[in-house]
Amino acid sequence: MSYYQQHQAEFLEGLKTFLRIPSISTLSEHKPDIRRAAEFARNELQSAGMTNVELIEGKGNPLVYAEWLGAPGKPTILFYGHYDVQPPDPLDEWKSPPFEPEVRGDNIYARGAVDDKGQVYLQIKAVEGLMKTTGKLPVNVKFLLEGEEETGGEHIEAYVRSKPPRLQADAAVVCDTEMFAPEMPTICVGLRGMVYYELFVEGASHDLHSGVYGGAAPNPIQAIAEILCALKDREGHILIPGFYDRVIPPSVKEREAWASLPFDEKEYTEKEMGARELVGEPGVPLFERVWARPTLEVHGIRGGFTGEGAKTVIPARATAKISTRLVADQRPDEAADQLRAAVKAACPKGVIAEVKVLHSGAPSLTNPDNPFIHAAAAAMKEVFGRDTVYIRSGGSIPIVGVFDRYLGIPSVMMGFGLPDDNLHAPNEKFHLPNFYRGIEAVARYLEILGE
Ligand code: BES
Ligand code: MN
Ligand code: MN
Repeated sequence: MSYYQQHQAEFLEGLKTFLRIPSISTLSEHKPDIRRAAEFARNELQSAGMTNVELIEGKGNPLVYAEWLGAPGKPTILFYGHYDVQPPDPLDEWKSPPFEPEVRGDNIYARGAVDDKGQVYLQIKAVEGLMKTTGKLPVNVKFLLEGEEETGGEHIEAYVRSKPPRLQADAAVVCDTEMFAPEMPTICVGLRGMVYYELFVEGASHDLHSGVYGGAAPNPIQAIAEILCALKDREGHILIPGFYDRVIPPSVKEREAWASLPFDEKEYTEKEMGARELVGEPGVPLFERVWARPTLEVHGIRGGFTGEGAKTVIPARATAKISTRLVADQRPDEAADQLRAAVKAACPKGVIAEVKVLHSGAPSLTNPDNPFIHAAAAAMKEVFGRDTVYIRSGGSIPIVGVFDRYLGIPSVMMGFGLPDDNLHAPNEKFHLPNFYRGIEAVARYLEILGE
C-alpha cells in the first residue's frame, strides 16, 4: 500500500477539521472564522514542511503564503486556492448541518467541501506526502491562498499586480474546477470573467397609494423589469450595443472536441439542474452557450411589498443585483461601460437608474499546448486510468487572468469536483475517491515535472 493510501483516514479527519470552520467571506460576523481558516491552512503548510510560511496581512482577508525552494534548476509551481466559502443558506435544505461535515456513502457533505477547502487541502497533503516519503520535493513549490474569492475581493489582485519577487513561478496550479464527468480526468482551459452590478432605481420620494396615484406615478420595479428586458431578449441574446464585439468564437478543433464529449442532455436538464427545459441562444450548442458566450443574469430584485397578504403600494425605490459573465477577449471595464450606457438608454420616464459595479474579473483562455498542462494531463491519466479531457467552464476564477497578465504564467486547472457537487447550494459535497485521487494526482504531477 502506498503512503497516500495508508493515510486516507488521517486526510479525511484533517479535512473535516478545516470544514468545521465557517469561513464565510461575505458575512462580516464571520471575520474571526476567516482568520481561523487562514491560520489552519498556515499551520498545515508549516507541518507539511514548507518554509517561510506566513499570513500576509493587508486591507482584506489574510493571504497565506508558503514556499519550498530546495530544487535549484527545476521549475517553480505556484499553488493557488481559496479558504473562504459561500454562505450556506437555505439552511433547512441541508440533510446535515453545513459546518458539521458528514460522510454519507462515498461523499463528504459540508459547505466548502469541494469549493474550495477540499481542493486546497488536497494540494497541501500532496506536498506533505512527498516531503514525508522523500524528504524533499521534485520541483520548487509556492502556495498563495486567499480568503475572499467568493466575494470577488480584489486584494489578492492588488498584491499580485505589485509583482512581489516571491511570486515568481513558471506555472500556477489551480484546483478549483470540476471534472466533466465521474471517472473522467479533466483540465479546464477557459473560464468566464464577470462584472457584478447593483442597479438602483428611484421614482417618487416616498411610497405612494397605488389607487390614488396609480396611472400617474412612476414604478421603479416595473422600470427594473423594462430595463432588464431591454438588456436581454427572450431568446437569451444580449442587446447591449457592442457587447459581442470582442467575443472570440471557439476554434473548429475545440468545437469538435466538445461535440464528442459523452453527454446526456435530458439527464443534465432534469436531474442535474432539475429544470423542465434548457433555454438560451437558439442554434448555439450547449457547451458553447455555457463556456464560450457571455451572459446576463439577474440574481435578485428588492423593493416594494413582499410580505404576507396584500398591500397596495407603489414603491419609491427598488434595487436589482445583476451580473454579466464575460468570455475572451471581452474587457470588464469596457463591458461595464457598455452596460451602463444601455441602462441609461433603456431607463423609462419618471425614474432615475444608477449602476454600481460591485466587483469584476477578466475571462481567461489558456493554450493547452504547454508542457505544464501536458504533464498534468499525464499525471491525471496515470491516477484515474483514463485519458484526460480538456474543457472550459462557465464559472469564474479571477486570479487566473491576473496570473496571466501580471506574472506572465499559465494556470493549470486540474480540478476534482463533479457536476453534481452542489457548489454554492445546499448539500455541497466532495466525492471522496476524487479527494484521494486528487492528492495522488498532484503529487504525481510534481514528480513528472521534476523528471
Ligand atoms: N470555484 C468556483 C468557480 C468554478 C466553479 C469554476 C465550477 C469552474 C467550475 C469559484 O469559487 C466561484 O464560485 N467563483 C465565482 C466568482 C466570484 C468572482 C464571485 C463565480 O463563478 O461565481
Ligand atoms: Mn472556488
Ligand atoms: Mn465558489
